[in-house]
Amino acid sequence: MKLSNRILDMQESPVRKLVPIATKVKKQGKKVLHLNIGQPDIKTPDVFMDAINAYDTSIIKYSFSQGEPTLINAIRDYFKRDDILFDEDDVIITNGGSEALTFTAIATCNFGDEILIPEPFYTNYNGFTKAVDVKLVPITTKAEEGFHLPSKNEITKLITDKTRAIMFSNPGNPTGTVLSDAEMEMIKEIALENNLYIISDEVYRGIAFDGLNSRSMGELDGIDENLIIIESVSKKFSACGARIGSILSKNKQLMKNILKLAQARLCVATLEQVGAAALYQLVPSYLESVKDEYEKRRDIVYETLNHIPGVVCEKPTGAFYVVAKLPVDNAEAFVIWLLEEFDVDGETIMLAPAEGFYATEGLGVDEVRIAYVLNSADMQRAMAILKQGLIAYNK
Ligand SMILES: Cc1ncc(COP(=O)(O)O)c(C=O)c1O
Repeated sequence: MKLSNRILDMQESPVRKLVPIATKVKKQGKKVLHLNIGQPDIKTPDVFMDAINAYDTSIIKYSFSQGEPTLINAIRDYFKRDDILFDEDDVIITNGGSEALTFTAIATCNFGDEILIPEPFYTNYNGFTKAVDVKLVPITTKAEEGFHLPSKNEITKLITDKTRAIMFSNPGNPTGTVLSDAEMEMIKEIALENNLYIISDEVYRGIAFDGLNSRSMGELDGIDENLIIIESVSKKFSACGARIGSILSKNKQLMKNILKLAQARLCVATLEQVGAAALYQLVPSYLESVKDEYEKRRDIVYETLNHIPGVVCEKPTGAFYVVAKLPVDNAEAFVIWLLEEFDVDGETIMLAPAEGFYATEGLGVDEVRIAYVLNSADMQRAMAILKQGLIAYNK
């Protein structure tokens, strides 16, 4: 039987494709510290389950296609803290940020259209866009430049009559880079001058270090028609399995049309929305404490990497990832070797090879993404394993 070209062209997730190897070695008794996936070990706040337990119903009914009003209003209040005001119909609840991104690609692009994106980028953007035959056009950024954007001129050179949007995650996955105010203004100018949507993936917003403030694009004036914000509880509230995200935009026409997609898939799980509403009502000090915890872990990772000869990496300033260039020819081969051949006292680590985070062929072959999602003690051991592993591998 035939399969579609779209599905055949789709890559396997580089974050998940080596999982069978990890599963095999774990069965053989090896302990694996997972730094390959953005699954934090921080406890989901109790209010999530408390709200679900207190939800009094005898039938788990379909929710509204747009989402539960209590959750929609909790998200509006979360943005209001930064003086960003959304109407009720400016928000649609989705199955994670993932579905928000898929809906956005479907609603903004025709087959063959293009979206500009700084690379390296969150690898599943490939999947969301490939599924609807949209091409990602990379704006290459470099480790040596802290993965900051190139000049406006460099970016506008990439715009064609098929370009529909500029998309990015801020703070960045996998780079850990937080956009500066000047970069945000530049994106706004490019979008306005070229009539592009701005798809601002803010699922890591608030996780920014060294006193930096990871601002929302929603704080900028004059882009109401262009701006689409992607939100999620997965990372900031350590609730990846809740699968609650949202799309926010003041472009009424766009939201009216995205609602058709939401209606076609009926609704998002009712109980998880109840829990998520409670998460968004947590006081800002909760998110501050989460940020402090990741900052501590960032320091452990960066300190170690900085002292390994041959490793190149800039200090990340947000999210919980770092991309590091390693002194190896092929990072994927090294990651597999770490799993299959190496251990320190029965324990090894799993990293994500970074090649799959790039659209440009040949980039990232010697790079890995490290997710610092484990507690400080585990991160310390993991980084010691990496250091010893590199020495042994290069012998
Ligand atoms: C940048 C970015 N956007 C979106 C997502 C999707 O998150 P979820 O679907 O869990 O909300 C992720 C998950 O890792 C991510 O890193």
